[in-house]
Amino acid sequence: MTTQPTGPASGTAPAPEAGAVLETGVAGDGLDLEAAQSVLGVDDSRFRHDYLEVRGLRVEFDGFVAVQGVDLTVTAGDLRFLIGPNGAGKTTIVDAITGLAAASGSVQFGGVDLLGKKTHRIARAGVGRTFQTASVFEELSVLQNLDIAAGAGRGPLALLRRRTSTPEAVEQALETVGLAHLRDVQAGILAHGQKQWLEIGMLLVQDARLLLLDEPVAGMSQAEREQTGELLQRIGAQRTVVVVEHDMEFLRAFASSVTVLHLGQVLAEGTYAEVQADPRVQEVYLGSAGATRGARRRGAAPTSAAPTTDEKEA
Ligand SMILES: Nc1ncnc2c1ncn2[C@@H]1O[C@H](COP(=O)(O)OP(=O)(O)OP(=O)(O)O)[C@@H](O)[C@H]1O
Ligand SMILES: [Mg+2]
Repeated sequence: MTTQPTGPASGTAPAPEAGAVLETGVAGDGLDLEAAQSVLGVDDSRFRHDYLEVRGLRVEFDGFVAVQGVDLTVTAGDLRFLIGPNGAGKTTIVDAITGLAAASGSVQFGGVDLLGKKTHRIARAGVGRTFQTASVFEELSVLQNLDIAAGAGRGPLALLRRRTSTPEAVEQALETVGLAHLRDVQAGILAHGQKQWLEIGMLLVQDARLLLLDEPVAGMSQAEREQTGELLQRIGAQRTVVVVEHDMEFLRAFASSVTVLHLGQVLAEGTYAEVQADPRVQEVYLGSAGATRGARRRGAAPTSAAPTTDEKEA
């Protein structure tokens, strides 16, 4: 049966791309990349600026300020989780970064200013996102979905040319997300988790170097969650990954760092243990401030699944 949940292949992650190791030093404390590069002989030109830098982000909807003064720095190799009660502004931040919501402030990735650019220009700058509802082409096969995603980065003439073999990037994405054995299966009959993996695979073949994933494990089984967490860690080791999530169990298991948002602002930032121990975070989740502000939930764990004191030993 082809619809069995099958985890992303472990141990098949591609070798780290050149420069990925150096990258983590970019926003760090004084690693001399020039010197490191000359010693190691690594051409990291493609990755050296691969970090997301958001400064003073502000988004307003008809007078309602949904996001205000948000600063966020995420480097490659850091698997960053964005959490916060319903309506905190998580999706709006992702929308602003990807050009779907008008914003002020500044957003840079890879040394490129993203704010004010059209969505396709932002995608071309190496930024990809998923939505809470997987958006794959249900009628097409897994391979065809990836092929189309790969085509998004090619010119019209190259797209018209018939392919004689599966492109390397597509082959690698199939392996990474664990769908190689399902390549000819119609995407519509994939299990829920597999569709999310396919969508992540589509970002990989588009060569997205910044991936913004909005509640990727919502609605997944426990097994699928674990497989997804491992997949995100593998991808996050080489790329810049930001995950919006509510599920604290998932967060505790897989987050390298966490940014907590509340009422459109950053409330706390640090490791899972740090933010979980922060009284302000506990207040927001457990106190009345954690109640929704008329925002809608879409299938994720309830807000009350947020940090609790009995999770302290994590
Ligand atoms: N297009 C819009 N027009 C008006 N208000 C909006 C719009 N999009 C979002 N908002 C409001 O902005 C605030 C932030 O919404 P956002 O969707 O970013 O929250 P979120 O943190 O992603 O919440 P959730 O956990 O429910 O997904 C909410 O109060 C929401 O109602
Ligand atoms: Mg949201």
